[in-house]
Order: sequence, then structure tokens, then C-alpha cells
Amino acid sequence: MPAQDPRRTSLLSMLGAAGGVALGSSLAFSVAPSSSLRGANPSHLTSTTGSSLSSAQPEGSALPGAFLASATLAAAGAALGRRHQSRVAAKAGKVPPGTPEVDPLPIRKRPRRNRRSQAMREMFSETTLTPANFIMPVFVHEGQEDIPISSMPGISRLGVDAGLLREVGEAVALGVKSVVIFPKTPDDLKTATAEECFNPEGLAQRAIRNVKKAYPDVVVYTDVALDPYNSLGHDGIVRSDGVIINDETIHYLCKQAVSQAEAGADYVSPSDMMDGRVGAIRDALDAAGFTEVGIMSYSAKYASAFYGPFREALDSQPRLPSDDWKVPSNKKTYQQDPANWREALMEAKLDEEEGADILMVKPGMPYLDIIKGLHDQSNLPIAAYHVSGEYAMLKAAALNGWLDERAAVLEALLSIKRAGATVILTYYAKQAAQWLREDAGIQ
Ligand code: PBG
Repeated sequence: MPAQDPRRTSLLSMLGAAGGVALGSSLAFSVAPSSSLRGANPSHLTSTTGSSLSSAQPEGSALPGAFLASATLAAAGAALGRRHQSRVAAKAGKVPPGTPEVDPLPIRKRPRRNRRSQAMREMFSETTLTPANFIMPVFVHEGQEDIPISSMPGISRLGVDAGLLREVGEAVALGVKSVVIFPKTPDDLKTATAEECFNPEGLAQRAIRNVKKAYPDVVVYTDVALDPYNSLGHDGIVRSDGVIINDETIHYLCKQAVSQAEAGADYVSPSDMMDGRVGAIRDALDAAGFTEVGIMSYSAKYASAFYGPFREALDSQPRLPSDDWKVPSNKKTYQQDPANWREALMEAKLDEEEGADILMVKPGMPYLDIIKGLHDQSNLPIAAYHVSGEYAMLKAAALNGWLDERAAVLEALLSIKRAGATVILTYYAKQAAQWLREDAGIQ
């Protein structure tokens, strides 16, 4: 406030000190420009509790009668003029009885102007979700029937022939053109070194061939890790002291990736989190002539509790230890600590240097900051895996009537995209695609 105006200073300090209640001096009110009290001079109002008098209180009720009685004619006129404005604003519609009548707040910036109509909101929307962003994960098994997964209502282990092709066909019809395949390996084919992972006639390899034969344009992604084939349930080979051995595991991961490429995979996706596997797989693919096959790397994959339903689906949880063989009950020596952010940037940087084509973050919604971090650091496409536990949470709440499933799911997926992921792996792929088509007026 201007120091050269002692009258105003004394008035405003009185207002501030008295909280607008005990206003006794008629001199102060008669000489003070009414605008400084009534909202036309924001720089003064914001410096005093007087602002609450001028704008947040119903007109005429906040100020003691002494004020109006002692105000000058000009001041009263100005006040009336402003009252008129307020009424005009209220005329656009009825307000409920009891709505306070106030002067416009002295704010020039009102972000709500751009949200007034549907057309405006569509114009200014910064993020658009489409079915082309989705990769549909599928679980396949040897049987002919589809077997529902209890912790993932709506999702089944699909027969590698009929069920798989039906599901992919439905996805394609809805605009989802990418799938990632996870095999449920029969127990008798699991070993402690997981050689089944590179069997050319293995479940994953047959599933890839089936999909590529029936739908050559569908982009097929695979999972590269030993856990579905490992009798001890880990993504790598477990040594007797419980250490998951890195370089030996990579030797088999390379064979697995090449056998998936031979079967027709477009992208192989290492989810194992061994050090140096992206570079080794790149070299192995190139040496086998698959320079065109891409690598979607699970770069920042966290040791998360949200994978529970997936492990039920594949029966792939770490196994119990025996007397002479330690088996860690979790994957914390290779998957990342959920507490860490900078470590994710380092992992992503290494994968990029080693030749990854897509960088993935997993899980999705609890890790939006990681998605954004990778997006800001790299120019590669970023993927996010909206994992089984995230699906299970939304489904459970929806089935109980606790959430509007459609709105909540589309918001979750949109948030993942807004954070920076253009590729979203989600068990909701088909359903979300259907909802998006309905929103766009397509049946
Ligand atoms: C295995 C793998 C897992 C997932 C994808 N690949 C499980 C794990 O790491 O234990 C989880 C996917 C999901 O929860 O939906 N390497």
C-alpha cells in the first residue's frame, strides 16, 4: 500500500486489526475511497483481511450499518453499480435460495472459461487414447478349453489353437492390433534350467505361429524370461545358495529370443531384469539374421506386489526352498526397489544404449512418475504395463458396484498415456477399445 497515504493506511490497518467488526471511526470511512474496500483495487485488498469483506460476504450484510450511513454519495453509487453487475451475472440462471450475492472476485485469469462447453473441452484435450495404443496380453495353455482365472474375472487361459485365435480376432475387430503372449507351461516340462523356453515346438512358439498365420498384420510381442519354464519359478537360473545367476541366464534368454523370432515374433520383450540382456539379445538376433525383429525392454520393472494374479494365471510363483537349495521367495535381487526413481533412469539408459526399440515401465498406474522420467530422458517410444493386480483391483471394485468401471478404467489408461506412455499393455484392451469406439460413435 502507498506509504504516502496515511488515511488509507490507518483505515486498512484498522480493518485488518478489527477483522471488520469493530469499525468505529466515521472519519476513516468517509475519507477512504470506497473502491479500496469494495473490490476494485486488488493489490490493496489482498494485503488486508478487508478483502473478505469486499468479496466473500453477501452484499450489504458483511459491513456494519455504520459503514453505509457514513459513506459518501459517490461511494454508495459505486457500490450500487457493482451490485447491479452481480445481479446481471446471476440472471443467466436461478441460484438456490441462500446463495450469497457477491461482487466479482478481482481475478483476471479464470481457467474455467476454457472448460465451458464440450466442443471447447474436445479442442483443448491434450491426450487422446485409441485402441491402437493397446497391446492385449494373452495367456495360452495346451488344452482346448478356456479356463477362467479366478483373480482376473473376464480373463482366461486360452487354448493355444481355438481360444487364442478367437480372442485375437475379437481384438482385431475392435482395432487392437497387438498382442503379447504368455504360455502356461505344463509342470512336467519345467526344469531348473528352463530349456523348454527355446523349444521350437513349445507353447509360446506355436502360439506365435498360430497368430501370425491367421492374422499376419497383428504385431506379436513375446515375453523373454525363464519363469514360466523354470521348476524353481524364477526369471533366471537359481544357484544352490539362492543367487539368480546373470550371465548363464542370458545365454538361454538369447536362445529363447531367437526361437521366438524364428516363430514369427515382431518384438521380443525381455522381462527378466538381468544385467546386459538387451545387448546380448540384440547381438543374438542380428547374428541369426533377425535384424528387423525389435526389442521391447522391460527397463524399469519393479519387484511389485501387483503381479500376484499373473503368477496365479501361469502358476509361476517362486517355489519353496529345499534343504540343499535356497530359493528366494521374491524377485528383489533382480527386479527394482519400488522406492527408487533414479535407478530406473539408469536402467532405461543402459537398455537404450544396448539397442532397445521400446522402453517399458511396469507396473503402470503406481509408477506414473517413472513413465514420465523415461519419457523425458529418451526419444524412444515408452510402454507401460497396466498389470494383473491393477486389473484385479478395478474389476473387484466394479463387480462390487464401488466404481464406475468404464469411467475408472478409461481414466486409468488415459493417465498412463498422459504420463508419457504411448504403448499400453492392458488386460482391458478389448473392453477399453469397445468403450472408445462407442464414445466415437462407432459400433
Ligand atoms: C515374468 C513376468 C511377470 C509379468 C510379466 N512377465 C511376472 C513377474 O515378474 O513375476 C507380470 C505381468 C502382470 O502382472 O500382469 N517375467
